[in-house]
Amino acid sequence: MTETKTERWTSVAKKSAIEPGTILGLKIEDRDIAVYNVDGAIYASNNICTHAHAFMSDGWLEGDVLECPLHGGRFEAKTGRGMGAPIICDLKLYPVRVEGDDILVDLS
Ligand code: FES
Repeated sequence: MTETKTERWTSVAKKSAIEPGTILGLKIEDRDIAVYNVDGAIYASNNICTHAHAFMSDGWLEGDVLECPLHGGRFEAKTGRGMGAPIICDLKLYPVRVEGDDILVDLS
């Protein structure tokens, strides 16, 4: 028997509320999620930096780079990949679907 992963899409925000170049921090089911808009494309990641405890939504989105507000750690916004010291662990991204103005995130 083949096991299939269950997708659990959760509506988290309206796309119209997140302008290009901005990050929205959300608490969804006890998880801290950052939702951000890179040139019209929506991405979602953990909102806690992998280096220490800082909210990525308090940082900056410069082009397609997320920058942490605490020590300036940088991540590729579209993949979550860390871009060097002090970051040694990548940021977890969640699958995102946009339906009309609704942003749905797969939290499974
Ligand atoms: Fe993010 Fe240190 S807490 S770079």
